[in-house]
Amino acid sequence: MSASSKPSSFSVASSTGSYDVIVAQGIFTETLNRVEEAHILADEFFRTAFETSPATPIFIEATEQAKSLDRTPQLIEHLRASGANRSTHLVAIGGGVLQDISAFIASVYMRGLSWSYDPTTVLAMVDSCIGGKSSINVGPYKNLIGTFHPPKVILLDPNHAKTLPRDQFASGLIEAAKICYCRGPEPFSAYLDHAPSIAMSIDALEGVILESLHAKKWFIEIDEFDKKERLLLNFGHTFGHAIEGASQYAIPHGIAVGLGILCALNFQRQRGIDFTTAPRVAQLEAHLHQMVHALPNLREHLQTLSLDEVLERIGSDKKHTTTHYTLILVAPAGEVILERIPKSAATDTQLQQSIHTMIQSIERAVA
Ligand SMILES: NC(=O)c1ccc[n+]([C@@H]2O[C@H](COP(=O)([O-])OP(=O)(O)OC[C@H]3O[C@@H](n4cnc5c(N)ncnc54)[C@H](O)[C@@H]3O)[C@@H](O)[C@H]2O)c1
Repeated sequence: MSASSKPSSFSVASSTGSYDVIVAQGIFTETLNRVEEAHILADEFFRTAFETSPATPIFIEATEQAKSLDRTPQLIEHLRASGANRSTHLVAIGGGVLQDISAFIASVYMRGLSWSYDPTTVLAMVDSCIGGKSSINVGPYKNLIGTFHPPKVILLDPNHAKTLPRDQFASGLIEAAKICYCRGPEPFSAYLDHAPSIAMSIDALEGVILESLHAKKWFIEIDEFDKKERLLLNFGHTFGHAIEGASQYAIPHGIAVGLGILCALNFQRQRGIDFTTAPRVAQLEAHLHQMVHALPNLREHLQTLSLDEVLERIGSDKKHTTTHYTLILVAPAGEVILERIPKSAATDTQLQQSIHTMIQSIERAVA
């Protein structure tokens, strides 16, 4: 099937035991037919897929409002009313929003339920489905609270990508590019060898999924709780979250991360870093430029962005200290590094300029 040399079934080690990942085209049919005994939380998008299934999921709109602390009590009450008890197995079907909601509820309901997960967006397939994190929004604060509670098994059907909008497809590919880049030159080059694009075949996408998951597996096994190596996967995220939030989520997560990586590279150049001896930096930039344009009206979204709001959001990132910005950046040789940069008016000007330069580069590309 896939062009990848990586195994399509593997285990991920975690402090609560190892869990299995099975990647196979068509495996979702098995989930549809096997779920009578389970309680299911499914993305509203899959309502029609269940019309002929014996299962009766709780359907949830995949929105940021849905994964808020305000909404979880209704879901918990719904589960209780439908008989969920300590031995219930929860099944989650959907992208990162359904994963976050389900993982959070599974971790707290009667002090913890076992759960399994069918990721259905490219982002969830290449990235979020492994690692065990759940995050829930509180009021205006995205992902403020959360838990670590990995599923028992992840059944991953790449065919789900066939129905995804182009920008969601690109959003996931950007996360895969980021993970493979962070892991090193060989995984990144293996990623590019699959010729990732929103027009790629499902077989080729399966190769990208495996490349990305195997690269991420290294980070989460060596640093499950985000203390050191795993932090590097936040590459592009300080800028990206700020851009995503300031656009009122009109710019999807992965696209915002891609724009954030472009900003991080511009920021380094502002600080005098030269990447000419690291050709993979230019390859990454070229690939991201190609991908981010999958978002319709990207230029208009960026033109309406308030730079002041982006900067304010960058400043409120929970990883900074009172005196220093904590940023994941790229060293001259191309490797990803965590740096603490002293807060100052000069740094703020460089941050602002790096966003401005990113916006200009997008405008030049469509001119
Ligand atoms: N827990 C983690 O480790 C982790 C990691 C990264 C991101 N996240 C979170 O994930 C969320 C983003 O998730 P996402 O990008 O996977 O998307 P999503 O869950 O927000 O879904 C995006 C859209 O795609 C639709 N959709 C889902 N599957 C589909 C399919 N197969 N075909 C057509 N449409 C489909 C959804 O209904 C929704 O409209 C954010 O809230 C982010 O914070 C969590």
